[in-house]
Amino acid sequence: MRRPIMAANWKMYKTPTETRAFFDKFKPLVANSTHCEIVICPPFVDLPAAIDACHGTHIQIGGQNLFWAKEGAYTGEISADMLKAAGSKSVIVAHSERRQYFGETDESGNKKIVAALESGLTPIYCVGEKLHERESAKTNHVLETQCLGGTANLTPEQFSRIVIAYEPIWAIGTGKVATPEIAADAHRCIRAQIRKKFGSEAAAACRILYGGSVKPDNIRGLMAQPEIDGALVGGASLDANSFASIVNF
Ligand code: PGA
Repeated sequence: MRRPIMAANWKMYKTPTETRAFFDKFKPLVANSTHCEIVICPPFVDLPAAIDACHGTHIQIGGQNLFWAKEGAYTGEISADMLKAAGSKSVIVAHSERRQYFGETDESGNKKIVAALESGLTPIYCVGEKLHERESAKTNHVLETQCLGGTANLTPEQFSRIVIAYEPIWAIGTGKVATPEIAADAHRCIRAQIRKKFGSEAAAACRILYGGSVKPDNIRGLMAQPEIDGALVGGASLDANSFASIVNF
């Protein structure tokens, strides 16, 4: 009932030329991969090249961040309408690297989610605990706070249009993937929060992606968990063959 999503977060990698080269290789490898949604989130400057390359295919392009204002004197920022007008369908919100290096919070994430939804973009809202939080048994509490904060004041209709990504910070870029069981436990915790706040139907319908050192050789185990509705992939999404193997798990 929940269609999987395989999403790529390219972070601060690739130029427009490298973006075009990626899609030349990647498109034929996923031409028949209709079992899931494919979303690629490149740096802003690569959006035109990516959108142009994917025109007429089922590959969707998304942003990695946005600012919540419609427009204005916000040097260096990009609005939801701009992303939408460029041809993006979705946008990553409150990624842990944005939280860690750029001061993002559940509250700013919430404003960004609302702005994205108003422009018709699908926000992919990231949550996840730090290593010391897991080691001190605070994971569930952290996930609960992040879920409630990010979705504060959303209507059920608005909530139905968001995607959540569970990314334990200790697993991002470290090669230390969460075991499928650990990931599924966290997803259950997130789904329980959604159930409390938005009801059983919303909880059953919400897609929750796992992110953190997803690779071609661990995706199957993760996707075997019914709780896991897809992946948000960083490092392993930069190579066309590697990301295609993840999509075609
Ligand atoms: P990783 O990154 O796959 O390189 O661990 C995931 C992410 O940060 O979204």
